[in-house]
Amino acid sequence: MTDKRLKDRVALVTGGAQGIGKAIAARFAAEGATVIIADIDEATASATAAEIGAAAALHADVASDASVAALADEVKARFGRCEILVNNAAILDMTGISTMTMAHYRHVLDINQDGAVRMTLAMLPLIKQSGQGRRIVNIASIMGVRGQRDSIPYSAAKGAIVNFTRALAADVGADGITVNALAPGFINTRMALLPDGTGHEHDTDWFKDIYLKYGRILLGHAGTPEDIAGPAFFLCSDDARYVTGQILLVDGGVSATF
Ligand SMILES: NC(=O)c1ccc[n+]([C@@H]2O[C@H](COP(=O)([O-])OP(=O)(O)OC[C@H]3O[C@@H](n4cnc5c(N)ncnc54)[C@H](O)[C@@H]3O)[C@@H](O)[C@H]2O)c1
Repeated sequence: MTDKRLKDRVALVTGGAQGIGKAIAARFAAEGATVIIADIDEATASATAAEIGAAAALHADVASDASVAALADEVKARFGRCEILVNNAAILDMTGISTMTMAHYRHVLDINQDGAVRMTLAMLPLIKQSGQGRRIVNIASIMGVRGQRDSIPYSAAKGAIVNFTRALAADVGADGITVNALAPGFINTRMALLPDGTGHEHDTDWFKDIYLKYGRILLGHAGTPEDIAGPAFFLCSDDARYVTGQILLVDGGVSATF
């Protein structure tokens, strides 16, 4: 039996009700962290918290200043500290330039880009006062480092998350806080469901043709949420204490070749 390596940490995971956020929250809880799930979907967040042994499931809409401020106040009042923040909440949006409106663009950025900035701004004062092993992990995407058709707002937001990560790392390095991003590739979550709900995009013939048949995903298959939770745990562990400002692509090798 190994030591629980996050046992002295309070960890806040946005979008932790399901998918990648849930797997990260579960991994942190298994490593002994006091985990707070913050999600817009309160019912699923509560069920998940009970399932994985999280300390709390709190309602939060990362697109709302008031909601995020209330969340930060509640974390401070109930837990008094927060060593780890994972900015994971986001929505998938596949809209190309020819059909997009500025209103739609701003809506997606408000959640996927500004949500991480808003959360960080609200939580940073408490994180700065907290204990050892202070970490911020932003969940970007392969679409934040590579282009993709019909993904203008999503790709723009994720690209911003990538460089927000580096700039934030520069601002808080002297405070002993590390800031890194994970850029997942194709992961089997609700986000990868087909619009008609008939299954995962990763099981379709076109996906197999493009990404598997010719070896675009070097490991030959889509990933699982747990494949992201492992690297998230590493970045939040003591082993990653000298790692900051980095973007780790966790994509089965898609980005390694062209
Ligand atoms: N699944 C993939 O293939 C993939 C690939 C690359 C990056 N990502 C990124 O990983 C992260 C998690 O995605 P996922 O696949 O687990 O998606 P998901 O849809 O399964 O989970 C997203 C969670 O975020 C919550 N959420 C959405 N909007 C919110 C808001 N405004 N405020 C608070 N919570 C909100 C949802 O309720 C949900 O619990 C996202 O940042 C996503 O962009 C996913």
